[in-house]
Amino acid sequence: MATASIPTTQQALWLKSAKGAWVIEPNAVPKPEKGEVLTRIESSALNPVDWKIHDYDFGVSEYPAIIGQDIAGVVVAVGEGVENVKVGDRVLHQGVLNKRQAGFQQYTIVPAGVVAKFPASLSFDEASTLPVGVATATVGLYSSNAVQSATLVAPWKTDGRGKYADQPILILGGSSAVGQSVIQFAKLSGFSPIITTVSPRNNDFVTSLGATHTIDRNEPLSSLSASVKAITTKPLTLVFDAVATAETQIAGYEVLHNEGGVLVVVLVANVPEADQVPGKRIAAPYGSAPHHGAFGEEVYAHLSAYLESGDVKPNQVDYVAGGLGSIPDALDKLRKNKSLIKIKFAEAAVGVETSRTTYDQTTVRVKAPMNEKFAKVIIA
Ligand SMILES: NC(=O)c1ccc[n+]([C@@H]2O[C@H](COP(=O)([O-])OP(=O)(O)OC[C@H]3O[C@@H](n4cnc5c(N)ncnc54)[C@H](OP(=O)(O)O)[C@@H]3O)[C@@H](O)[C@H]2O)c1
Repeated sequence: MATASIPTTQQALWLKSAKGAWVIEPNAVPKPEKGEVLTRIESSALNPVDWKIHDYDFGVSEYPAIIGQDIAGVVVAVGEGVENVKVGDRVLHQGVLNKRQAGFQQYTIVPAGVVAKFPASLSFDEASTLPVGVATATVGLYSSNAVQSATLVAPWKTDGRGKYADQPILILGGSSAVGQSVIQFAKLSGFSPIITTVSPRNNDFVTSLGATHTIDRNEPLSSLSASVKAITTKPLTLVFDAVATAETQIAGYEVLHNEGGVLVVVLVANVPEADQVPGKRIAAPYGSAPHHGAFGEEVYAHLSAYLESGDVKPNQVDYVAGGLGSIPDALDKLRKNKSLIKIKFAEAAVGVETSRTTYDQTTVRVKAPMNEKFAKVIIA
C-alpha cells in the first residue's frame, strides 16, 4: 500500500439518529483494502437527497450515519492492485452512505474502478458537483438495466458517439444538476433537437451545454405537447424528467410518441397505471455509480476524457464557508429552496437576479443560478 502522511482519526459530520441531530465527532480514517483508494476530501457538494435522507429516513442502514455523495479530493493511499490512480492525483468520485465511503468527512474510501482524475482547469469545488448528476444521467440513458434506463448505446461504445443523430429528446428540468448532465450526454449521443424546460434566465446557460431549444418551465404543462410539436414533428421517443413531480411525469409520459418511447424519471415513478399504454415504458435510475458495478466503472473509465475535452462541464458552484459544521444550515437552504422554486422563485428571480457572479450563501435563494448545489471545502 502506497501512502502519504495520514492521520488515524478525522472529523466527520454524523447524523446521530433517524431525523435527528447533526454532530461533528471523530471517525477513524479507513484503510484502503485491495482495489480501493483513500481520498482526502477537499470539497463535498450538497444535493437535495441529503436533506431528504435526514427528513424522511431512507438510504441509511444504521445510525449514527455519515452521508454525502459528491466528492472531490486528493488520493492519499491506494490498496493493492490499484493502477489507474496514484497518491497525489486530484480525483472525483461518488460517496456511499456508510462511514467508510461517505462524503461529509475529511477522508473516505472508494473502489478504484469508480474514481476519475480531473483536469487542472477544474477546481475541487467544481469537480465535486459532478458525480451524482453524471451517474443519474448515464444510468438513466445507457445502463443495460431496463428498469432504470432507456438502454441506449453509450457514446463511449463503438459507433456510440452521435448514434442518435436527428432524433429528438425532451429533458424536463435541464438546468438542474441532473438535467445539465443529461443535456451534455444527449449532445454526445447526437440527439437533435435537444429540447429542455427551464426558467428563461437559464436559456443561454443550457444552450451553452448543448440544448437546441428551450421551453419556459412556467408554461402550463397542458401546453407542453404543443410547444414540442412547434419545435419538431419527428416522433419523440425519449423524455428525461429531471424534475419528476407527479405532474411533470404525467406530462412527459403523454408527450411521448404514441407508438412507443421511454420516460426516464429521477424520482419514484408516478404515472397512474390507468394512464399507461403498451409501448411506452418508464425507467427510474438509481444515480450511484458505485452501485452499478461494471456499468459504473465504464462511466468512470471515460469521464476524465470528457472532462478534459470539455464535453462534460461541472455545475456552477455556491461556495459555503465554514467547514463541516455549516452543512446543516446549507441543507436547510436547499430544503427551503424547494418550496420557493415551486411557488414563486422563478418570477422573483427574473426581476432580482442582476448578476450571476456574486453568489454567496446569504443571497443564494434569490440568486441561486442554475441549480441548488452548494460546494463546501472541508477544512482538514
Ligand atoms: N434517482 C436518483 O438517483 C437521483 C439522483 C439525483 C437527484 N435526484 C432527484 O432529482 C431531482 C433533481 O435533483 P438535482 O440535484 O438535479 O436538482 P437541482 O440541481 O437542485 O435542481 C434545481 C433546478 O431544478 C429546476 N426545476 C425545478 N422545478 C422545475 C420544473 N417544474 N420544471 C423545470 N425545471 C425545474 C430549477 O431550474 P430553473 O432555475 O431553470 O427554474 C432549479 O434551479 C431531486 O428531486 C433529486 O432528489 C434523484
